[in-house]
Amino acid sequence: MNSYTDTIARRYDGLSSQDCCLSCGGALSFAKVGKGDTAIDLGCGKGRDVIRMALLAGDKGYAYGVDISEGMMAEARKQAGVLGVENIAFVKSPLENIKIDHGSADVIISNCTINHSLDQAAVWREIARLLKTGGHFVVSDIYAVEKVPEQFRNNPEMVAECWAGALTREEYLNNISNAGLSDVEIMEESRSYEKGKVKVASFTVKGYKR
Ligand SMILES: C[S@@+](CC[C@H](N)C(=O)[O-])C[C@H]1O[C@@H](n2cnc3c(N)ncnc32)[C@H](O)[C@@H]1O
Repeated sequence: MNSYTDTIARRYDGLSSQDCCLSCGGALSFAKVGKGDTAIDLGCGKGRDVIRMALLAGDKGYAYGVDISEGMMAEARKQAGVLGVENIAFVKSPLENIKIDHGSADVIISNCTINHSLDQAAVWREIARLLKTGGHFVVSDIYAVEKVPEQFRNNPEMVAECWAGALTREEYLNNISNAGLSDVEIMEESRSYEKGKVKVASFTVKGYKR
């Protein structure tokens, strides 16, 4: 990790004991996790979605939660233990370089996380690397209605607040197609709203590795 990701991890360590909603859409509800699937949640936070995916995947399937915040992953592990979910692992890893083998996943989800990355193109290349051929992703995230000024984009505190790292809608979708992912569909999309010092909107995007 570097000082940028440290700042983000620290913020989420602090939020891990609070009961707040950190999602920007309904990625999981569009993910269609099947029995026996291997599923990955990028930025799993306290584990709500990844635990649900482990339960949907059943005994013959597996789910990985990836996050950089120890605090968040500790909460997620605790919750998985309480529910007796064993087909699950939590991987501490930055999204740009994920410590999971290539071609592992039938389905990858992410909710309100990729906007935190300084190199979102690299995150999308990782998604393409991790998916099996025929696998799919469903990602809920925010995008900026107009380009976020550099002085905000380079401020990790502001990025950690889920707005300053946002790319424009066009940049976001370009990263997906440049990673070689296809059949992209917008499953839901909000109106624009003020967040931090900019206007953003959120959407849920689905697509495939063919
Ligand atoms: C807004 S929260 C969303 C958590 C969860 N997906 C949910 O919907 O409740 C963002 C999560 O992404 C994690 N995160 C942020 N940047 C990350 C990065 N570069 N690599 C891995 N995890 C990251 C944070 O630690 C945090 O748990």
